[in-house]
Amino acid sequence: MSRIEKIGDATLYLGDCREILPTLGKVDAVVTDPPYGIGFAAQPTRYQRANGMKAQTWDDQRPLDVVDQIVAAHERVIIWGGNYFDLRPTRGWLIWTKTGNAPSMADLEMAWTSMDMNSRRFEKSVKSASREKDLQNGAHPSQKPLALMEWCLGFVPGPGAVLDPFMGSGTTGVACVNLNRAFIGIEREPAYFDIACRRIEEAYRQPRLFDEPSAKPVQQSLLDGVDG
Ligand SMILES: C[S@@+](CC[C@H](N)C(=O)[O-])C[C@H]1O[C@@H](n2cnc3c(N)ncnc32)[C@H](O)[C@@H]1O
Repeated sequence: MSRIEKIGDATLYLGDCREILPTLGKVDAVVTDPPYGIGFAAQPTRYQRANGMKAQTWDDQRPLDVVDQIVAAHERVIIWGGNYFDLRPTRGWLIWTKTGNAPSMADLEMAWTSMDMNSRRFEKSVKSASREKDLQNGAHPSQKPLALMEWCLGFVPGPGAVLDPFMGSGTTGVACVNLNRAFIGIEREPAYFDIACRRIEEAYRQPRLFDEPSAKPVQQSLLDGVDG
């Protein structure tokens, strides 16, 4: 492990999660977005190349072993790209539908959850997700929209800490800051780790909605009194 940064209630590790996870205690929930193993980063589009993205290898392989360990060790788990992993059947999928997408791109992304709950859908246009990335000075090529990750956290209500062992540019961490949750993030690539540190610091500088852990989690109402 080469670096640990403590920013507010967020602890960020630069290094390989295979080495760092065994050193951590139990967390309340894992919300993560691992490499899907589809070679996405190896083939930047013309637009991405024009914006400085070079071919990378971080998405060449699925971390099947890590995902298995996480699911075995934690009760509340959300895994984006869960359809690319060998996970047990679940009722509770989370779906991001991408409106206004180019026909060559997928219309949705799926997150597997360990929770026995109804499947839910979140709608956000690709255009607005891209605009969110453009507003930042340097972004992760597969950065998730912040509102999507805040929505996810509503399905694993606090107040305990949330772990993201594949944090990329730290979107899960920023969502945790906004919702007053402690966060533990791990990222192997120094450039993405630096972006995550910067984004989480910036999030702490913003005026906060809550000074105390939120009594009622975002979107919890969706889970109340609904049938399957
Ligand atoms: C799909 S991206 C996550 C993007 C993130 N959701 C965001 O919004 O920025 C997956 C990340 O996992 C990182 N990664 C891959 N293998 C890793 C490992 N063994 N340990 C830690 N990080 C790893 C990659 O460098 C990549 O940044």
